[in-house]
Amino acid sequence: MVAMSSLPSKLSARFADVAGVDPELRPATKPQFGHFQSNVALRLAKSEGQNPRAVAQRLVDEIDVADLAEPLEIAGPGFINIRLKPEVLAAEAEQVRTDPANGIVAAEQPQTVVIDYPSANVAKQMHVGHLRTSVIGDAFNRVLTALGHTVVPQDHMGDWGRQFGMLVEQVLDEKVDAASLSLAESEALYKRAQAHFNDDPAFADRARKRVVLLQSGDPETIKLWQAMVESSRQGLLKTYQRLGIKVGLDDFDGESRYNDDLPKVVEELETDGIAVIDQGALCVFVDGFAAPMIVRNREGGFGYAATDLAAIRLRVNEIQADRILYVVDVRQSDHFAQVFDTAKRAGWLPDSVEARHIPFGTVLGADNKPLKTRDGGTATLDSLLDAAETEASPEIALAAIKYADLSNSLIKDYVFDLERMVRTSGDTGPYLQYAHARCNQVLRKAQAEGYAIGPITVLDEPAEQQLALKLTQFGEVVAEVGQSLAPHKLTSYLYDLAESFSGFYEKCPVLKSEGEVRATRLGLVQATKEVLAQGLDLLGIVAPERM
Ligand code: ARG
Repeated sequence: MVAMSSLPSKLSARFADVAGVDPELRPATKPQFGHFQSNVALRLAKSEGQNPRAVAQRLVDEIDVADLAEPLEIAGPGFINIRLKPEVLAAEAEQVRTDPANGIVAAEQPQTVVIDYPSANVAKQMHVGHLRTSVIGDAFNRVLTALGHTVVPQDHMGDWGRQFGMLVEQVLDEKVDAASLSLAESEALYKRAQAHFNDDPAFADRARKRVVLLQSGDPETIKLWQAMVESSRQGLLKTYQRLGIKVGLDDFDGESRYNDDLPKVVEELETDGIAVIDQGALCVFVDGFAAPMIVRNREGGFGYAATDLAAIRLRVNEIQADRILYVVDVRQSDHFAQVFDTAKRAGWLPDSVEARHIPFGTVLGADNKPLKTRDGGTATLDSLLDAAETEASPEIALAAIKYADLSNSLIKDYVFDLERMVRTSGDTGPYLQYAHARCNQVLRKAQAEGYAIGPITVLDEPAEQQLALKLTQFGEVVAEVGQSLAPHKLTSYLYDLAESFSGFYEKCPVLKSEGEVRATRLGLVQATKEVLAQGLDLLGIVAPERM
């Protein structure tokens, strides 16, 4: 498939051919200025020491955009105004309407992309921090899949470690059926085990011995460990499903998967001189970091870093990933920088593979501090969803939360303000859902009257043109998000689209118009509905038919 480029990029290319630099097209500030404006003549004039209007005149004489736009106009000190031809806009908008992908074009070189998310730990409930990795990772999964890439989600679940010694002992002491525990019950058991460990030296001793049994593969211990992991997996899956994120049982690829690889990974690092013993621990010193990365601790236990290194080898060699994305809290930035650097030095991460940490900020409460429950505990994800569902239906509550989570630059913290998030006006998820339902309502009425919906042919009104122009940009925005992994560009595009729709709907009667004008306007409504539905779906948000 040939990549379709949007009207602004076509125009920009023609300008750049003549001017030699990017014209930096900006949307026109008023309809009388056309659709776009460029200050390229002013910039060139400055660097060449010439008169800006004269430079603008020269550019206007040489740039050939006659097939796309009306004759270029020079304004004020030397701005160039561009007005697209209505028939060109109409044809492009019509293409968006009739294309099942609504203008999304499959990547010319499809990639295999591993996304590491949400990766919670066994015997702990998902908390508010896991909300973000789930929501963001899911949006990446959807966007990249829509662009034709093969996405392999991997839940790098924390399913191994010394804590299982005391967990198994506690299970045996209490004679509970580990397989049947809910996540909340597992977490409570974890807390009891910890207290027990701290208060009772005999128990602590048994727990330590149990760790050795687990590591040596003692069948009874392994069975109990497995039961705990399995119950956690089921519990996590329930929350994932409640969130509507696309991670299934097959995508769980916990840390324990790498148990057999760890000795090899560490040995290789040591032989290559990349890792060295420091105070009894095997460490990698990476330039620019105050603390070394520990791959094996003093007791001989393998750390978090060792598992991540082993995972990179698997992802590169077996999964043959072109891109590996880690959607993890910003507080783990140093960890990933060190892991990537080490993997490169060890030759496990070739230059042809992009490993990237996508850091995100913290969810804050009304007091601007990390969100807590009323008694000061960490808010569980389920409790947040419960709270949101007291404000709105599950569909709308989820839209509110996901949109808020995705609509700022990811690295920023944001305040979890339910009352604002569920509003159906302003820059919110429910507002977009509402715009979608409104389009649907118009279309239903049109169908009941037997009116023709489309084709989009005549675009005389500025508000129609504005909406059409927005519609034609969808594909490029999605492609951009696939590259930059900045979902807020998609949320702000959809918000602008909904705003353009609202402006159009105010100024242009749809059902009360006639003939080609009515068919065009209904076509615009239909294309808007489809792009909103498709765009919301890429964010993991449901687009209701009625609201
Ligand atoms: N289990 C970790 C946590 O709950 C997150 C793991 C992130 N992924 C990774 N490959 N290190 O914080």
